[in-house]
Amino acid sequence: MKKSLFTKLMSTNFIVLLISYCLVAVFLSLWFNNYYYNQRIRALVNEGKNLNQVVEEYINGEVDEKSLKFELSVIDRFLGARIYVVDRYGVVFGYSGDEEDQVMGKQLTNVEIDEVRSGNIVINRGTFIERLSSPTLTVGIPIIINNQVQSGVFLHTSMDEIKDTVDKVYFIIWMAAFFAIIISAIILYYFSNRILIKPLGKINHTAKAIASGEFDKRVNLVSDDEIGDLALSFNYMADSLQNLERMRRDFISNVSHELRSPMTSINGFIVGILDGTIPQEKWSYYIEIVHGETKRLIRLINDLLDLGRLESGEFSLRIENFDINELIRERVIKFEDRIEKKEVEMDVTLVGNRLKVKGDRDRIDQVITNLLDNAIKFVPQNGEIKIRTEIKQDRVLVSVYNNGAGIPKEEIQYIWDRFHKVDKARTKGGGTGLGLSIARQIINQHNQNIWVESGEIGTKFIFTLGIV
Ligand SMILES: Nc1ncnc2c1ncn2[C@@H]1O[C@H](COP(=O)(O)OP(=O)(O)O)[C@@H](O)[C@H]1O
Ligand SMILES: [Mg+2]
Repeated sequence: MKKSLFTKLMSTNFIVLLISYCLVAVFLSLWFNNYYYNQRIRALVNEGKNLNQVVEEYINGEVDEKSLKFELSVIDRFLGARIYVVDRYGVVFGYSGDEEDQVMGKQLTNVEIDEVRSGNIVINRGTFIERLSSPTLTVGIPIIINNQVQSGVFLHTSMDEIKDTVDKVYFIIWMAAFFAIIISAIILYYFSNRILIKPLGKINHTAKAIASGEFDKRVNLVSDDEIGDLALSFNYMADSLQNLERMRRDFISNVSHELRSPMTSINGFIVGILDGTIPQEKWSYYIEIVHGETKRLIRLINDLLDLGRLESGEFSLRIENFDINELIRERVIKFEDRIEKKEVEMDVTLVGNRLKVKGDRDRIDQVITNLLDNAIKFVPQNGEIKIRTEIKQDRVLVSVYNNGAGIPKEEIQYIWDRFHKVDKARTKGGGTGLGLSIARQIINQHNQNIWVESGEIGTKFIFTLGIV
């Protein structure tokens, strides 16, 4: 069975709690036991010593047996201890209890008597005299008169009585530990649930929802700890996923859209030819249009394949040294027809005669072709196009400028996106909106930069290349 984090957390904490509280309780009990016994012994010794005076007076005949008995019974009641007063030989001549006839005059022969006789205080746990079979705590104190041990006082209390008190305290200590454990466990339960389990559950729940396609789900959780950070990161990840998903959908719909218009027109013309709507003498005209559309389709497919390979990193550049000036001249010549048709004033300013750069010539060709194609496409009739190479530090800057309306400010950030066209109507039939994406991918793979400066006076695309 899978153990939940909650069970694991609770059981570890509970064991730690149990051990700590039990340890505390054991130490407390031991300490109290010790403390209580010492306290008792001290009280017995003190009271025993206080009896010195009355016993001395009794021996000297200054007080009678009744007064001695009275003194003894007061202390008996006060301490809950039986008191025996014995002479040097262990013969009892004073007793605090009622069974005087059984005790008075008897000789005690315990080892303690010898100890007391030699002037020491005796403390003993165990049976004192055979008559008291239950365990007792006994304190023996010598009575010293004129610097001589004349007799001894023995005080003893039943251990049962002491044990009762100690047991009561033990019970309180252990009950306190028990309730402390219960209360701690409840607090632990509440907080681990609140701080950890519930938020994790929320995140998990959302993760599952997103996995099943609900990309708009987010974790609603504010907390200034690691869980809060996790929730933030999670939501951030969800945003990216949603974005990716949207891009995927857009991409598919864009591709389908781009494919549909040429396909529809190709289909229309072929059907027209097949069913005779288009007369035979006009066939070549329409086949020419069909040819144009197929070329556009092929270009689109090639662009898509290029972009796919560039983005997945499958594509490896064939870096060589080539003359960028020569490449630019070749491309300008290639576009001569279109340039003349638009009566564009062409200004090509190149650094030096030959300018060697490092890069994949075919790919850079693609970039220049696209930039020039765009410039010609978007330059007004009788407009102006300027192509320039410059050297800045260890780089060559290639710029393609055309005058005209320029790209609206709010559109500039999007022109590098796949399929993005500022004015869909104007570029209809021409571009696919993939050219700049491909150009940027290529330049990025060269570890170089490409950017655009566009304003009312026109648009300038600039990219860099490494100089040899
Ligand atoms: N020189 C330019 N002048 C004005 N707008 C431009 C220029 N170059 C690019 N654009 C804008 O950027 C969009 C994307 O360009 P591109 O990716 O090459 O796609 P396409 O050329 O197929 O339209 C163009 O549709 C156009 O709106
Ligand atoms: Mg283009």
